[in-house]
Amino acid sequence: KRLILIGPPGSGKGTQSPIIKDEFCLCHLATGDMLRAAVAAKTPLGIKAKEAMDKGELVSDDLVVGIIDEAMKKPSCQKGFILDGFPRTVVQAQKLDKMLEKQGVKVDKVLNFAIDDAILEERITGRWIHPSSGRTYHTKFAPPKVPGTDDVTGEPLIQRKDDTAAVLKSRLEAFHRQTEPVIDYYSKKSIVAQLPAEKPPKDVTAEVQKVLSS
Ligand code: AP5
Ligand code: ZN
Repeated sequence: KRLILIGPPGSGKGTQSPIIKDEFCLCHLATGDMLRAAVAAKTPLGIKAKEAMDKGELVSDDLVVGIIDEAMKKPSCQKGFILDGFPRTVVQAQKLDKMLEKQGVKVDKVLNFAIDDAILEERITGRWIHPSSGRTYHTKFAPPKVPGTDDVTGEPLIQRKDDTAAVLKSRLEAFHRQTEPVIDYYSKKSIVAQLPAEKPPKDVTAEVQKVLSS
């Protein structure tokens, strides 16, 4: 399947992605993860992206479309994919459609992680990440066995630089202004499924499975 996950920061896209990937055997492309890796490695792309990311603003369409265009060439992404955090503007959605048109395929489903803004600050400020695997924890909702430590490797967990209440405000603003129109764009194609993203992770997973098996 060819899937897009859309939702505000902290809505659970990254939490559900590995489960969907394991079950449906797809490639998982998360532009945020790819950009953070580029920033950490100080590549030319990372240097260009860092300022916007630190402020909670979107990186330019050209940069992210370039990343996705390149990543989609991987053989594992030919039969299906999960896009997590892309497209985030209508321009990105249009460019994705053009890319897929060339391959004679299209997006099957857009999963809309619907959730109230008020819940997100607690989710974002409590998030801890194992950087090399991308495994995500939460101090209250998904605590690691040993605080501050990855369950599998025992390595230290970190917090994202943009996971502060102040930066979350601009990330949410960007979501409402630039990304919500993308949901309308796909609604017109009748491929959007609503997920109750405020429910516990297991319930959201069950909803995802229901949508994808129908
Ligand atoms: P990105 O990395 O995509 O961040 P985001 O969209 O803000 O989303 P998050 O990763 O914060 O949230 P998530 O939905 O994955 O939440 P998670 O599952 O981890 O983008 C970062 C930046 O990169 C952007 O600001 C922008 O600058 C740039 N960028 C990226 N893509 C771009 C693009 N296409 N165009 C332009 N710029 C782009 O969950 C959060 C926490 O909650 C975790 O701790 C988790 O354990 C917990 N949790 C998850 N689900 C539940 C639940 N159901 N109940 C309770 N707790 C839960
Ligand atoms: Zn994420």
